[in-house]
Amino acid sequence: MKKRPAAEKAVDDYVRDGMTIGLGTGNAANMAIDRIAELVDEGYDLKFVATSLQTASYAQMHGLEISDIDQVDHIDVTIDGADEVDPDLNMIKGLGGALLREKIVASLTEKEIIVVDGFKVTDVLGKKVPLPVEVCRFAHSKTASALSSLGCEPLLRTNGDGKAFVSDGGNYIYDCRFKSISDPVALESAIDVIPGVVECGLFIGMAYAVEAYCEESDSVKEL
Ligand code: A5P
Repeated sequence: MKKRPAAEKAVDDYVRDGMTIGLGTGNAANMAIDRIAELVDEGYDLKFVATSLQTASYAQMHGLEISDIDQVDHIDVTIDGADEVDPDLNMIKGLGGALLREKIVASLTEKEIIVVDGFKVTDVLGKKVPLPVEVCRFAHSKTASALSSLGCEPLLRTNGDGKAFVSDGGNYIYDCRFKSISDPVALESAIDVIPGVVECGLFIGMAYAVEAYCEESDSVKEL
């Protein structure tokens, strides 16, 4: 996992003094937070919002103060990871369980910058990873049945102890294995109209740039 050069490039290229920054969730986002903390030590005056409780506590450990998202006017740049990225920069996110807050923050952000290992870049979404779908706990297995009618195998996400994983929003997540997702726009619409679905992990047209670390050439490519 050598995403750090890509995370550092994302911060150095897009974070500027005075900005409000969205902090993503996962390893890539944490690497970006490490670099952002250095900039704050150098004197940058930044505001932050977090996409998960986990990220908020990681940022606070670095001395960064998290603002209430309802109290900020705008978010200039968010730096986050992704689980799969296609050539149009559409993404699958949510394997870390933070897709709902990540999607809300991405929708409010001027520039969503994504940091990935090159192997996460794919020609068609859904080939390598399942699509996470966050659902209301009430009647969740009925919602899962409706999801399966779209051509996937939904699997309730569990913790190591076998109990259902509960998101920061208090919901369950089904990981939906599709063979591939040839039309992400149509699939997102079909998922969104199922009662009980809170949000799905398809992020369409939300990424401004993707910083992809390529192991073979030990370099970072911006997509
Ligand atoms: C969190 O819910 C996810 O969307 C993460 O952003 C995604 O899983 C990428 O995480 P890593 O940077 O840890 O690979």
